[in-house]
Amino acid sequence: MAYTSFFRDPDALKAIGERVVPAVSHRRSIRVWDAGCATGEEPYTLAILFASRLRPFPFRNLDILATDYEESSFAQFAEQIRIAEYSRQDVFWVPQAFQDLYFEPGAKPDTFRVVQELRDHVRYIQHDLLTFVPPETGQSLVVCKNVLMHFTPEDQVRVLEMFHQSLEPGGFLALDADQALPPSFVDRFPRVEAGLPLFQKPGA
Ligand SMILES: C[S@@+](CC[C@H](N)C(=O)[O-])C[C@H]1O[C@@H](n2cnc3c(N)ncnc32)[C@H](O)[C@@H]1O
Repeated sequence: MAYTSFFRDPDALKAIGERVVPAVSHRRSIRVWDAGCATGEEPYTLAILFASRLRPFPFRNLDILATDYEESSFAQFAEQIRIAEYSRQDVFWVPQAFQDLYFEPGAKPDTFRVVQELRDHVRYIQHDLLTFVPPETGQSLVVCKNVLMHFTPEDQVRVLEMFHQSLEPGGFLALDADQALPPSFVDRFPRVEAGLPLFQKPGA
């Protein structure tokens, strides 16, 4: 259930890069919540995306909150994300230009470590989405991929309500490409553009 990889969903990343990054680039605080982050490949992909598209000054304002729930995996996920060291096979999906810019040799043979400049912008905390209480509010972007499908329709509604609560007005929500929102969310989370897995809370 914890399968993940770098640059896993190019359509969502393209949408975030082209629609979210420009919309938040002038903000004094750019807050991203990656809900169900597993071992960190996704939050570090987001860090790479923002770093490659933002000038250094706004990039300083980026704070990525990476959360996952498993008690047994907590230490493993927390440690993995803190160390941010990945195998050659893991970084295979990272475009070479980004490997060159944002990775350095790891401590173990044939591993690659995310550079400090990006690590400084990713925080991990344990959080169970099914508590339905957001870990923090005022988010500019919530990313939740390959997680909601495991929940019942009733729990999905409550989790989406939590995401809505966690987002600032005008904040974005990135879901799976095939994730349809329940009818009660049509006005609360209009789709940014037909076909894009990206929604926006009104009221920017
Ligand atoms: C398939 S992985 C997806 C990882 C990443 N989002 C991606 O798309 O590559 C699903 C993740 O959701 C997490 N997860 C499942 N139920 C959860 C819950 N109730 N609260 C928080 N995380 C949960 C699992 O621990 C796992 O790491």
